[in-house]
Order: sequence, then C-alpha cells, then structure tokens
Amino acid sequence: MSKFDYASLIVDIPDYPEPGVVFKDITPMMADPQGFSAVIDELAEHFLGRGINKVVGAEARGFLVGAPVAYRLGAGFVPARKPGKLPREVLSQSYALEYGTDEIQIHKDAINPGDKVLIVDDLVATGGTSVACAQLVERAGGTIEGFAFALELAFLDPRTVIGDHFDQEIFSLV
Ligand code: PRP
Ligand code: ADE
Repeated sequence: MSKFDYASLIVDIPDYPEPGVVFKDITPMMADPQGFSAVIDELAEHFLGRGINKVVGAEARGFLVGAPVAYRLGAGFVPARKPGKLPREVLSQSYALEYGTDEIQIHKDAINPGDKVLIVDDLVATGGTSVACAQLVERAGGTIEGFAFALELAFLDPRTVIGDHFDQEIFSLV
C-alpha cells in the first residue's frame, strides 16, 4: 500500500495512441512536486540495501523514473535506447509492445559481469520492454535484482510474462 495517492495524478486517455488502448498519462504525477518525490523515494527505498549498483531504464519515460531512482540508490544509470541512438557498440533485443513491436539497445560496456541491476520503468504493460532490458543485462553478464514500476497494468498480466523469464521481485506502486 503506497503512502501517496498516485492514482489521482494519472490520467486515462481512451483510444490513444490507437483504438482500444487506454493510455495512462503519468505526466501529471511527474509534474507534481509531491508526486514526483514520492514515486522516486518509494521505489528507491524499497530496493535500498540490496547492493544494487546499476539501474537500467528504457527510453523515454523509463529515463524519467530510472535516473532519479538510480541517484537515490547511489547506483549508476544505464539508458536502454531505441535503435540508432547509442553511438558505440551495442547489444540489441527485440520485443513486443501493447501497441506494436520495437527493439531496444544498451551500450555493450554499460553492464559489467557482477553488476547487480534493477530494471526501472514508469509503467509495465505487457512486460515486453522490461524482459528485453533484463535479457540485455544478462547477456552483458549482469545479475537482475528486481523490477520497479510506478504503475502496473495488471489486466495485461505482465507478471506472467516477466515471471516466464525471471523470478526476481516485481514491485509496483499502483
Ligand atoms: C512505454 C513505457 C514502458 C513500456 C511498457 O514506453 O514507458 O517503457 O511502454 O510497455 P510494455 O510493458 O508492454 O513493454 P513506450 O515504448 O511507449 O515509449 P516511450 O517511453 O518513449 O513513450
Ligand atoms: N505503454 C504501453 N502501454 C501503455 C499504456 N496503456 N499507457 C501508457 N503507456 C503505455
């Protein structure tokens, strides 16, 4: 149970970006000073003391939540980016989205063997993005310590998709 009423700062947009999808707009939560600090503090505090030294966040909204969580944990931040954005040698993983498919990349040297990594995103829907990020981490030799989300679309059953690949904790605020 969260200390903060995040739900009142998340706006439902029906049929965006395509018919049948209810888009969850987190920008009011990020724009609210109390909402922003509460979401970062709650996610980071949950994973404090576990030796996490890297956070991976997926472009673009995963950066908004992942980077401040990393700072709060005293960890480094690794951006997982859409193809063609990272300038050096990359590892790539394709994945399915609630709307469409995509591919995500990290720099090959961003994760070192032995790194303890938390996957952070604003929202988990199908779980495809997070599984792809975690697969990239493992391919680079890192260990997944958990998954942290502000918002989980439980009706899309992301826990089953993530759980098919990883047995680490999945922690969501809403
Ligand atoms: C959104 C969200 C997550 C992902 C979740 O990003 O920020 O990264 O979808 O969906 P999934 O669990 O089904 O993979 P999106 O790809 O829309 O890109 P954006 O952050 O650039 O808007
Ligand atoms: N990313 C994937 N599905 C989404 C949704 N329904 N709302 C906001 N972001 C999303």
